[in-house]
Amino acid sequence: MELQGKVALITGGTAGIGAEAAKLFVREGAEVVISGRDKERGAAAVADIGGDGGRVRFVQADLGDLDSVRNLAAEAGPVDILVNNAAAFPTAATLDQDVESFEAMFDTNVRGTFFLTAALLPAMIAKGEGSVVNVSTMAASMGVPGASVYSATKAALESLTRTWAAEFGARGVRVNSVAPGPTMTPGVLVEWGDGVEALGNTLPLGRTARPQEIAEAILYLASPRAGFVTGATLAADGGATAV
Ligand SMILES: NC(=O)c1ccc[n+]([C@@H]2O[C@H](COP(=O)([O-])OP(=O)(O)OC[C@H]3O[C@@H](n4cnc5c(N)ncnc54)[C@H](OP(=O)(O)O)[C@@H]3O)[C@@H](O)[C@H]2O)c1
Repeated sequence: MELQGKVALITGGTAGIGAEAAKLFVREGAEVVISGRDKERGAAAVADIGGDGGRVRFVQADLGDLDSVRNLAAEAGPVDILVNNAAAFPTAATLDQDVESFEAMFDTNVRGTFFLTAALLPAMIAKGEGSVVNVSTMAASMGVPGASVYSATKAALESLTRTWAAEFGARGVRVNSVAPGPTMTPGVLVEWGDGVEALGNTLPLGRTARPQEIAEAILYLASPRAGFVTGATLAADGGATAV
């Protein structure tokens, strides 16, 4: 059990990739806090992830709201592992992009993630160890029509990954990203519909990912097996960015 004795917060751990990561973390012995906006979804996810002896709990939080972010840090922390997974990803062509949705994506994916991480880092630093895994996307390093703002938020997250690795490495905290390709989750099906399957067909591996496959990459980076890995972005994209 690789995460025995560790406490992890997985934002957006109530569905999709985050929920699968929570299952793997529980299997590996961690105590897991999952967050999301919807209380009922949170309760259902806790029951589904089903850690015996109460090893999973839910904290309601909206990453787009700074008060909510502060409350999440206070209720979840201190943690040994932080997985910044929750994100907003509505699609829009650049010429149709409205300001409200632009701001919601940056507030959630960049501002919320930034200040949550900043609030939880001091405890990791005090302990002399910790691991942060940011969930990015292959679109951060590719031109994907309809994903301009979303891709820009994730490119910012990959930049933060490198800066944080440089700022906190000497104090024992590793910071990495996973950049998934199209993955079959409830959220992506709402936003992209059949387009997800079509995108998967264009990849070298010729298919979409299962959320469990992305969760495995997150687990690897969070675990001691990645002890000498920091500042990296691991492509889990079926080969998309290799071609
Ligand atoms: N699926 C893909 O194809 C794909 C590809 C590349 C990267 N990714 C990245 O992978 C991560 C997870 O995506 P997913 O497909 O698993 O998404 P998902 O199925 O939509 O799940 C998203 C999770 O985040 C929570 N969430 C959404 N907005 C939130 C907010 N403002 N504040 C707090 N929690 C919020 C959701 O719960 P509530 O709705 O209840 O808040 C849910 O638990 C995201 O960072 C996404 O950008 C996904």
